[in-house]
Amino acid sequence: MTLHKPKARFMFETLDQIEEDIRKSLAEAASNRRSPMHTPVVGTPDADVRMMVLRGWDARAGTLRLHTDARSAKVAQIGDGARVGLLFHDPDARIQIRAKGQGRILTDGAQVEAAWAASSEYARRCYLAVAAPGSAVDAPTSGLPPQVEGIRPSEEQLLPARENFALLMVEVDAFDWLLLAHDGHRRAQFVRDGAGWQGVWVVP
Ligand SMILES: Cc1cc2nc3c(=O)[nH]c(=O)nc-3n(C[C@H](O)[C@H](O)[C@H](O)COP(=O)(O)O)c2cc1C
Repeated sequence: MTLHKPKARFMFETLDQIEEDIRKSLAEAASNRRSPMHTPVVGTPDADVRMMVLRGWDARAGTLRLHTDARSAKVAQIGDGARVGLLFHDPDARIQIRAKGQGRILTDGAQVEAAWAASSEYARRCYLAVAAPGSAVDAPTSGLPPQVEGIRPSEEQLLPARENFALLMVEVDAFDWLLLAHDGHRRAQFVRDGAGWQGVWVVP
């Protein structure tokens, strides 16, 4: 898919085309850091929102994967089943995609180990923070131990970070897709229907 290219309304005459746009946009967002949808806004039931990096999208299972610190406030909020909302926006394409589903925090298992192993040393360094994200401190700080600040940490230095690493998996059960266009906006919604999606047009 070409990034930063406006999408025209004629590209979206059918619900199938929109479903395909959602699938392709999320695949691109998860794999390309230059995608404008790479960093969705993630909302939790406590009305809090924050940006996170989309790390994976399993189109077959309808599951999104994100990485976070197991000690963070959102992890306590989500636990093993809170509702999670995600907002994706591509300003050039003028498309907004909203996703809703069941969130689940994973700290152990093959999926977590694979994601940890695939993360760069710099990405894994974040999880060396001494205190939990959001902890009050007396002075400005990165939270990292001084010996790893500004450097690429060794595998040995990264060992204690693993226990702070968690996956946020979101099993999406609804999408809301919106295109802004001069000649008429378009909006469609999809709900999970078995292994596929059931779509309807709605007024923008
Ligand atoms: C562009 C961007 C990307 C971010 N990516 C992540 C991420 O992938 N995971 C994460 O936990 N926090 C990420 N953050 C930080 C969060 O927005 C948030 O500040 C932090 O996770 C603490 O949130 P909480 O207190 O709600 O748990 C990112 C922030 C920005 C600005």
